[in-house]
Amino acid sequence: MAVRTLSPAFPADARLTDSGRLEIGGCDAIELARELGTPAYVYAEEDIRARARAYVEAFRSRTERFEVVFASKALPCTAALAILAEEGLSCDVASGGELFLALRAGFAPERLFMHGNNKTEAELRYALETGVGHLVVDSFDEIDRLERLTAEREHPQRVMLRVTPGIQPDTHASISTGQEDSKFGFGLAEVPAAVERLRGAPGLELRGLHAHLGSQIFDVAPFERLAEVLSGMGSYPLLNLGGGLGIAYTGEREPPGLDEYADALVGSAPDGVIVLCEPGRSIVGNAGVTLYTVGTVKEVRGIRTYVAVDGGMSDNPRPMLYGARYDAEIADRFTGAEGGRLCTVAGMHCESGDVLVRDVELADPRPGDVLVTPATGAYGHSMASNYNAVPRPPVVFCASGEARVVVRRETYEDLAARDV
Ligand code: LLP
Repeated sequence: MAVRTLSPAFPADARLTDSGRLEIGGCDAIELARELGTPAYVYAEEDIRARARAYVEAFRSRTERFEVVFASKALPCTAALAILAEEGLSCDVASGGELFLALRAGFAPERLFMHGNNKTEAELRYALETGVGHLVVDSFDEIDRLERLTAEREHPQRVMLRVTPGIQPDTHASISTGQEDSKFGFGLAEVPAAVERLRGAPGLELRGLHAHLGSQIFDVAPFERLAEVLSGMGSYPLLNLGGGLGIAYTGEREPPGLDEYADALVGSAPDGVIVLCEPGRSIVGNAGVTLYTVGTVKEVRGIRTYVAVDGGMSDNPRPMLYGARYDAEIADRFTGAEGGRLCTVAGMHCESGDVLVRDVELADPRPGDVLVTPATGAYGHSMASNYNAVPRPPVVFCASGEARVVVRRETYEDLAARDV
């Protein structure tokens, strides 16, 4: 039997066994589905570690002056954050809740960067009290607030300045942030005034500039341009070029490698500066898949076959929000060269737009089958909702044939837990 390799959308530590069953981190996907129920976010734990290490290595082989900062919004889950802290990464938090999880996971506060275009006063106080390493200042109003909150400090709070560089990467408008028309940061023309304000604030110490161009970016040229633009705006100890490197959601399109990416960042930054990057998706996205169970197969003759699964827009809103394209397979009957039946994978929610994958070939899907969508490791768990009062799925880490639930499935009781 020909060995079938999985597309790069799947975790590197996943394979098809000789009998054609999907294994993730050495665990059989069908058994996981049976034991833990579906839907479930299933990760190859080693993949998270390996991708984090690959980032660190890519930079370490080029410079001693770098920091890899995990964007926790991609997977705000204590166990994942604990792994990334262990691997020596720093962490980007964009809310009080993300700050809480990062601290709980064991990140040293000084390794944290706090972002946000509208941090509340309570969030700023929380960050200042817990000793967050750097606050990324986003607006003049925030400078006012921070000046007031830090006036009495013995040691100044370290800050970076969020810049909107006027560079538009080629990605979906909702996840593009580099363009001038953005709610984030200071436009290039405003930077000198913001720098002056920060320099005049005794409680604040400006350590560098920060920009994030957007997400799911496949071309490294905009990162080079960004490094050049920011470098031309003054010299600082730190230069944070944000996250955004794309990943393979399907087998059709692969992103640039980390060598090319690190070359772009390090090569375009001035000597001596500490280069920071903030990957989220490219560390955890391909490390995770979602397992579902097929419930119904409905053929609308001459039009389409709907394969309905027991999750949908509540565990993965990305197809609806960004028109994101995913692959799908039956976990013990992958389509081979002979192809399969053209289907549309629909969710179980009460709206027609609840479609996970339109027009995908599946091998003879039947009720009871376990269906897998790869590349759901980033922004799945983090953007899940309780729409239709559906309990959110568990997060499961698999390694060397052992599975551990790191976030349990919600229960119906959880749905009522906030009732007063
Ligand atoms: N740094 C900053 C300041 C960010 O705002 C983000 C993402 C990142 C880093 C990480 O970007 P990544 O490497 O993951 O592309 N919900 C959307 C993604 C929104 C990203 C927002 N900021 C999605 O599901 O595609």
